[in-house]
Amino acid sequence: MNISIFGTGNMARGLAVRFAQAGHQVTIASRDPAKAQAVAAEIGNNAQAASYADAAGKADAVVLAVPYEAASEVIAAAGGLAGKVVIDITNPLTADYSGLTIGHSTSAAEEIQKSAPAAKLVKAFNTVFASVLQNEGKAGGQPATVFIASNDAEARKSVADLAKSAGFKSVEAGSLAAARYLEPVAGLNIALGYGLGHGTDIAPTWQGVA
Ligand SMILES: NC(=O)c1ccc[n+]([C@@H]2O[C@H](COP(=O)([O-])OP(=O)(O)OC[C@H]3O[C@@H](n4cnc5c(N)ncnc54)[C@H](OP(=O)(O)O)[C@@H]3O)[C@@H](O)[C@H]2O)c1
Repeated sequence: MNISIFGTGNMARGLAVRFAQAGHQVTIASRDPAKAQAVAAEIGNNAQAASYADAAGKADAVVLAVPYEAASEVIAAAGGLAGKVVIDITNPLTADYSGLTIGHSTSAAEEIQKSAPAAKLVKAFNTVFASVLQNEGKAGGQPATVFIASNDAEARKSVADLAKSAGFKSVEAGSLAAARYLEPVAGLNIALGYGLGHGTDIAPTWQGVA
C-alpha cells in the first residue's frame, strides 16, 4: 500500500519503520519540509517526503500521527482528504496525560471526522505505545493488538490487513463510535505504564477474540 504519514514524531517514525519494513511505500509529510526529508532518509526503504497535499494525493491510507488538537489543521492543509482512508491514532489527552478531554458522547475520532466529512475515518493504533512500535510491534514479547473502528467496513478491513502485514494482531471493533471505548483504553494503558510503574513494554489485548 501507499501509506502517507502526517507528522515526524515518535508514532510517525515508529509506524513508518513498521510499514516500510513490511514492504509498503511510505511518504512522510510535516509542517517543516526539511524535517520530513530527514525522517524519510532515516526510515530508508525508499521512504519519501512530500507536502501534506502531495502525500495525500498518492496515499491509499493517510495516518494522522499528530496531536488531536492539530488534526483539523493538517486535514485542511492536505485539502480535506475526501475519499481517503484516514487512520486516526490520536488520544485526546489532558496536558498532564492523566485524563481525556472528551468522551462518553463523542470521541476524538468522531470529532476529526467532522473536519474530514468525506474521508473514510478509521480509529487504530491509539492503544499502542510508540516504544512498542520500536520493538518490532511487540509488547511483552508478543505482537501487540491494534483495535480498529470505522463506519466503513472495507476501510476497517484494509487497516486490519495493514496492521497484520506489519506484524500486529488486529481486532475489528465495529463502528467509529467504538473510539469512545478505545480512547479510554489508551488512557488506562498510560496509567498502567507511567502512573503505576509497569513501563511501556505493555499493550492491551482482548482474550478470546481471535
Ligand atoms: N507516543 C505514544 O506512545 C502514543 C501512543 C498512541 C497514540 N499516540 C497519539 O499519536 C499522536 C502522535 O503522538 P507522538 O507521541 O508521536 O507525538 P509527538 O512525538 O509529539 O509528534 C507529534 C507530531 O505532530 C506533528 N504536528 C503537526 N501539527 C502539529 C501541531 N500543531 N502541534 C504539534 N505537533 C504537530 C509534528 O510533526 P511536524 O513538526 O513534523 O509537523 C510532531 O512531530 C498523538 O495524537 C498521540 O496522542 C501516541
